[in-house]
Amino acid sequence: MQTTQVYAVNREQANCLEVRTTELPAPPAGHARVRVEAAGVSYGDLLFQRGVIPGGPKAPFVPGCDVVGVVESVGDGVTTLRPGDRVAALVVSGGYTTGITLPAERLVPVPDGVDPVNVAAVSLNYFIAYQMLHRVAKVRSGQSILVQGAAGGVGLAFLQLAEHIGGVTVFGTASATNLDVVRRHGAVAVDYRNEDFANAIRDSVGAVDAAFDPIGGPHFWRSYSVLRNRGGRLVAYGQSEALRGGKRNMAVGAMGFLGGIILPNLRPDGRRTGFYNAWALEKKQPRAYGEDLAQVLDLLSADKIAPRSIATLPLRDATEAFAQLERGVTGKLVLTCTE
Ligand SMILES: NC(=O)c1ccc[n+]([C@@H]2O[C@H](COP(=O)([O-])OP(=O)(O)OC[C@H]3O[C@@H](n4cnc5c(N)ncnc54)[C@H](OP(=O)(O)O)[C@@H]3O)[C@@H](O)[C@H]2O)c1
Repeated sequence: MQTTQVYAVNREQANCLEVRTTELPAPPAGHARVRVEAAGVSYGDLLFQRGVIPGGPKAPFVPGCDVVGVVESVGDGVTTLRPGDRVAALVVSGGYTTGITLPAERLVPVPDGVDPVNVAAVSLNYFIAYQMLHRVAKVRSGQSILVQGAAGGVGLAFLQLAEHIGGVTVFGTASATNLDVVRRHGAVAVDYRNEDFANAIRDSVGAVDAAFDPIGGPHFWRSYSVLRNRGGRLVAYGQSEALRGGKRNMAVGAMGFLGGIILPNLRPDGRRTGFYNAWALEKKQPRAYGEDLAQVLDLLSADKIAPRSIATLPLRDATEAFAQLERGVTGKLVLTCTE
């Protein structure tokens, strides 16, 4: 099968994407070859390309962490999938493509009637928010949480999924123009440019049970500082602060890890910190991937979750998608991959 892929060929500037065509061989045993219909674009794709995420893929690589498409053929021994089935998957990289071969167990069936663009728009963001809420912090009704960047793609996923838990007090940080979005989802909105979220939390509930932070740098420590003693949990999951205005700042990233994640864990105050990524639970909870992605797709199918807005671009315009990520995107960008 002829496949078009978009490669990030260096880590110096975002304008580094190249379209390449290759032949995708027949799938080996246990795998399926998928004709990709849509792929999500995430700020993390840019962070990977710029090399600010430790352990991320190195150029040249194909960015993109989520794909949705139709099974085109299956290898020997695959009994759970048939050609024609629509499936979704999360991948560490490789999403910006018209075709991909993956182990069959990575492919999660998409419920009938759900638009593939919508699937690509929710898969990664809602999957990670779901896992951090339910499997890492185990947030329950009656608890309070802090969501940093609450009007962003992942932030909004936290707000919507916390609404489904019910009875959770949510503090969400955002810019002034985004405060209404945060409030519409029942959260206490804090203007992070003009207010101190720590004061807002202390004045209201004293401390929170969990904080979710994608910003990094000194933010990790500040988010940790509002956790309640004995049981409070910081879930760090991003490093936006390590790339500001298109410039890498590895020192900020490293200091954030040291001061906000590693050192706090040495304090005997009963608060815990940790860094989550979408693959963090795979070894200890191997069934979580399939169960949680299926749960997200069911919520989408039932119209219980939705990104703020969705914009699409053809795969060949991935360079424009990266330029938009650099400028700042409101809502979710999705590449359409059918040529
Ligand atoms: N660990 C993983 O597996 C994983 C997977 C996917 C994404 N991520 C990470 O998740 C993060 C968010 O991704 P996304 O797609 O949701 O990005 P996004 O849609 O661009 O949202 C980012 C939000 O961060 C907010 N923000 C920026 N600086 C802030 C600050 N100082 N305080 C509070 N909020 C601030 C912005 O808020 P305003 O617009 O209101 O200013 C923006 O809405 C990225 O760092 C990404 O790498 C991690």
